[in-house]
Amino acid sequence: MRNLFDPRPKSSRSELFDRVDELEILDKSIGKPLIVVLGIRRIGKTSLVKSFLEPYNGVYVDLRGVVTHVDLYERLSEGLSSGLNKLRRVIEGIRGIKIMGFGVEIKWRGTDSISLLGFLEELNRRGQFIVVLDEVQDTRPPVSAELRRVLAYTYDHLSNITVILSGSEVRLLSDFMGINNPESSLYGRYFVEVDVRRFTRDESLDFLRLGFKQEGVEPPVDVLEDAVEFFDGIPGWLVQFGRSYIDGGVRDIGAIKEQAISMALSELLRLSQRERMVLRAIAEGAKTWGGQVRRFVEERLGVSIPKSSLTRIINKLESLSIIKDYEFLDGIYREAAKRL
Ligand SMILES: Nc1ncnc2c1ncn2[C@@H]1O[C@H](COP(=O)(O)OP(=O)(O)OP(=O)(O)O)[C@@H](O)[C@H]1O
Ligand SMILES: [Mg+2]
Repeated sequence: MRNLFDPRPKSSRSELFDRVDELEILDKSIGKPLIVVLGIRRIGKTSLVKSFLEPYNGVYVDLRGVVTHVDLYERLSEGLSSGLNKLRRVIEGIRGIKIMGFGVEIKWRGTDSISLLGFLEELNRRGQFIVVLDEVQDTRPPVSAELRRVLAYTYDHLSNITVILSGSEVRLLSDFMGINNPESSLYGRYFVEVDVRRFTRDESLDFLRLGFKQEGVEPPVDVLEDAVEFFDGIPGWLVQFGRSYIDGGVRDIGAIKEQAISMALSELLRLSQRERMVLRAIAEGAKTWGGQVRRFVEERLGVSIPKSSLTRIINKLESLSIIKDYEFLDGIYREAAKRL
């Protein structure tokens, strides 16, 4: 079993801290066609879905950064390979699927090949199966369009298959699934929604205590409480904090906070100048339209900016799960944005 402060996503229920309610909802939803797992960055979506999958026949597919069909089938084969122990029996003998030692090869073009849909149809014939697609909103056409069609068909016709989509709220629901767009092939379909929530103060404290205990380290209580306050129930940051404290030899909580802020800052620096300026305005406390944010940005840049451009920027920042209703979803990013 891996320790709590292992930075990779957890993949078994024994490694997972809490998430009892979320697992219960997921367990009860087996057999339903579609489940959507939502949450902000570092909140533990991947850990939850991977650990959930442990006792079931199913595959976890990481779609982050997938652009082409080559990528798609490569990720599928990676997912099947890492679950091969339990899946060998299920996928053995399916056309186009070759088991090679510890890996799985998928022939997806030419003679004796199999498409993703064909593969799901075969699995459906063999019994209950769960397909987890993580960060599916990262895909682009034509892969994204094909995935939507495959998912819609699966939803309607393959009753043994449960699909779980996980990712950030706005991009997953609006951009990928198109829940408000009648043209989308997934429009109007019912799904179970699981929101991965923050840990409470007490849970965060327990998380840190347990993590440090596993590593044989005992930081002073005030350091733990300070970290709980600052990292605000987001397990990815708590792990980062634990690791820095233990490995980095950094015992100074101020320095560890700085590290986290720099990580967030390096992500924000990829945004355009105007997007960064809008974030800075909001971080400094600017709120509504017409008013504060626009004036802040115009003053800084010395350019007048049409309202519509600002709306577009706000929408994009919301779709990246950085802000919602003029508030930062994660305080670390607010701190980082003050330095933009
Ligand atoms: N319930 C948990 N128990 C133990 N560790 C957890 C838990 N949730 C998250 N973690 C840890 O926090 C970090 C982030 O988790 P994970 O990668 O699962 O989050 P995520 O929401 O998928 O993040 P991202 O948005 O980056 O994909 C990892 O180090 C993981 O091991
Ligand atoms: Mg993830």
